[in-house]
Amino acid sequence: MLSRREMLRRGVYGPALLSVAGLAAQEGVEEPLFAPSPAIAPFTRRLRIPRPYVPLNRPGAPAQQHAKAESIFQQAIAEGRFLHREVPPDWAQADYYEVVMKPGLQQVYPGLPPTFFWGFDGHWPGPTFLFRRERTAVVRFVIDPAIDEPCATHYHGAHTPPDSDGVPMNSYTCNDELSPMSPRGSRTFVFPNDNPFAATLWYHDHGQDVTAHNVYMGLAGFALLRPNAADLANPDAPENRLPSGYGRYDIPMVFQDRLFDANAQLVYDPFEHDGILGDRMCVNGVIQPYLPVARRKYRFRWLNGSNARQYEFFLSTGDRFYVIGSDGGLLPKCAEVSSVRIAPAERYEVVIDFSKYPVGSKVYLQNCLVQTGGRGPEEINFSSCTPFVEFRVERDEGPDQSMTLGNGTILAPEIQDYIDTYLTPQGGEPVRLLNFMRGNGAWQVNGRFFDRNRVDVSERLNTRSIWRLVNESGGWEHPIHIHDEEFRLVSRNGAPPRPYERGLKDVFIVGEEQSLDVAAYWTGEKNVGQYVFHCHNLEHEDMAMMGIFDVQP
Ligand code: C2O
Ligand code: CU
Repeated sequence: MLSRREMLRRGVYGPALLSVAGLAAQEGVEEPLFAPSPAIAPFTRRLRIPRPYVPLNRPGAPAQQHAKAESIFQQAIAEGRFLHREVPPDWAQADYYEVVMKPGLQQVYPGLPPTFFWGFDGHWPGPTFLFRRERTAVVRFVIDPAIDEPCATHYHGAHTPPDSDGVPMNSYTCNDELSPMSPRGSRTFVFPNDNPFAATLWYHDHGQDVTAHNVYMGLAGFALLRPNAADLANPDAPENRLPSGYGRYDIPMVFQDRLFDANAQLVYDPFEHDGILGDRMCVNGVIQPYLPVARRKYRFRWLNGSNARQYEFFLSTGDRFYVIGSDGGLLPKCAEVSSVRIAPAERYEVVIDFSKYPVGSKVYLQNCLVQTGGRGPEEINFSSCTPFVEFRVERDEGPDQSMTLGNGTILAPEIQDYIDTYLTPQGGEPVRLLNFMRGNGAWQVNGRFFDRNRVDVSERLNTRSIWRLVNESGGWEHPIHIHDEEFRLVSRNGAPPRPYERGLKDVFIVGEEQSLDVAAYWTGEKNVGQYVFHCHNLEHEDMAMMGIFDVQP
């Protein structure tokens, strides 16, 4: 397998690369190497809602789909995917899916050629998994022969055994034949979906050394881990009282900045190791869309799916809105805010109440955080906000039965209990000191590059530890992600985190000259083995700011 560094040396890097001849001669030149994206009129295209995947073995599905589901079950056994757990006595006690990573075309720019990308099932963003908590899903991920990079699909934020986690060490290619039961270029992953709480999760490619390129090309989508019947038994549970209905009042939005050439094709610069930025703001694969809304509350699930850009979102009206969830589930208490900072891979769930705006008004979701390089954001500047979404308040609708929210409204006392019980340091926990730094022309942790044969941190099941994430530099910010569990940010430079960072999280912005204490608690007999942690600025990750941790019983 070619490493990213090797590919750079050979000058082969993906189909979207423009000619880079003469690039070295231009080094030190200040002008951008790539022309800006073509102009496009904003708010002329509607926000698209990614379609949901449906299980192959759902009731009423055609017989050949059930047969395929059974073949996926057989493949999972042949690949040893159930070693960590009992083979389900009845294979139908799981949902089966087949997903193909393949090229697609999308009309991003009206009047220009369609944009070529890579997508799960040929969609950018990928279709949405609507998983149920504690319902196992078995997914066969197939790499189409047109995808000439190693891939591994990671289910980000999920509590998954390591051999199904899609860590870079799981990478495979379109020619891979793992077992006699495995169709060429495919692998099964088993997702127990046993996170303790429902949450807005996502999935994306994690191919070793090529994650940044593959995600930039479109390989990412939502995986919503939804509550199960027991979670919903209490009619007063907020999940029963928040705006609901996928794509109706409960709307996912993934934000991705992209650069396009004159023919509307994606431009990816493999020589940019600080982090790739685009100048066009895509929401669910549409540049600056509009969304018609009714005069009522909506739940939005925001995901920063960008490689390197952070956002700070405000409403154009200056009105406040409600943060109700973070990476790992609902917030214990609602946080009323005028803005939210969101770094790559972070998720926040918010509720916006449009009832106060008259029919005919337009409200914009806008980013006011300036960022001109991959090293990190500069400042909030209200004179250079970019509108991402135009909400068109266009109708009244029947009564809004969803719950009333205010600052401090109790949302998830069970998550507060979990934090109090497992994620509150008592003193004496081991401290994992991790220094994220620049070194040897790339990105390191504690002075070392990622090495797939080296364990950097050893953990024990059913114990708590503190991960001290340190960034001593003045020039860089790193959104650090840890696999396997949901965590809690205890403090940033000794101070309590922002109110909306006080729930369960798996990505932590480590700003300039900051030290974060993150509490971890390792659970699950099958969650034993090697996982990764890394910077989710994906260029930093590929250029080796990543390490392995090993959880043992
Ligand atoms: Cu979202 Cu290891 O990644
Ligand atoms: Cu970084």
